[in-house]
Amino acid sequence: MTDSGTLAGQVVAVAADHAGVTLKDALADDLRAAGAEVVDLGTRGTESVDYPDYGAAMAEAIAAGRAPAGVLVCGTGIGISIAANRNPAVRAARCANTTDARLARQHNDANVLALGARTTGVEVAADCVRVFLTTAFEGGRHQRRVDKLAGR
Ligand code: RB5
Repeated sequence: MTDSGTLAGQVVAVAADHAGVTLKDALADDLRAAGAEVVDLGTRGTESVDYPDYGAAMAEAIAAGRAPAGVLVCGTGIGISIAANRNPAVRAARCANTTDARLARQHNDANVLALGARTTGVEVAADCVRVFLTTAFEGGRHQRRVDKLAGR
């Protein structure tokens, strides 16, 4: 995540359940086309799977440092963000528009963007990804609040 306005060179993990896989794959293609390195944690088909497994896979990847940022997709973005947020290394924000995505970075230092494939169109989702990954955390008073999220 940078404020340089570019996706090139960023490492971004992506994961989705069956409801989100088509959008996840489209967003991953966009990221690669923009020069980002994508770590695809699945799922890879439309066979029914359980979103907690993919939220947990994202959390493990973030906690292990495989990627500094991630994009999750399920039907609504809700279940998979709840799952990812069970890991203290994750601050996943379910966003429905670019204002959500910008403020999730500026104020919350969110490191995972969660999107709903059944609720957000592909162009809005792609805009959210771009804004999320190119907006910096503001720090300052927000750092104190983010520290409290981590129990510090
Ligand atoms: C799967 O049908 C759906 O429940 C899941 O993708 C998600 O929307 C849950 O929050």
